[in-house]
Amino acid sequence: MSALPILRYPDPRLYKKAVPVTEFDGGLRTLVENMAETMYDAPGVGLAATQVDVHRQIIVIDLSRDKSDLRVFINPEIIEREGQQFCDEGCLSVPGIYEPVERAERIKVRAFDLNGKPFVLDADGLLAVCIQHEIDHLQGKVFVDYLSRLKQTRIKAKLQKQLRETA
Ligand code: NI
Repeated sequence: MSALPILRYPDPRLYKKAVPVTEFDGGLRTLVENMAETMYDAPGVGLAATQVDVHRQIIVIDLSRDKSDLRVFINPEIIEREGQQFCDEGCLSVPGIYEPVERAERIKVRAFDLNGKPFVLDADGLLAVCIQHEIDHLQGKVFVDYLSRLKQTRIKAKLQKQLRETA
């Protein structure tokens, strides 16, 4: 397994739309293992393939503290949403920034597992936030896009400064 480089906001590649996975093969399994490694290494609680410049509909999430609850969603689709919640969100592509975003409180998501088997999951709270955040990535959307223009401009400036300082 190996950790992959993570694209940083406002990299234009974060705005590409991912295509559905059609082959549930060894290559997919390796990619998912590498994505999980990348997420744990960062460390973070969720990662979309888009963030590692692979534009296929794959997300990994693990909200546990001990890497014991890896969830993989292939071709995920939200089929029901209910209620609303505001939660401070962060993103591995937008390091050091946390801002509240409005999300549905409860969702029903349909997806496929690594073997190509479909499943449906009901999620609420933080898991629901995380799934909505990661599915946004697959659609070429970053949580910063929900914020005011002013905040977006400030965040871009801050990240560009970080990049210059590390370069
Ligand atoms: Ni993110």
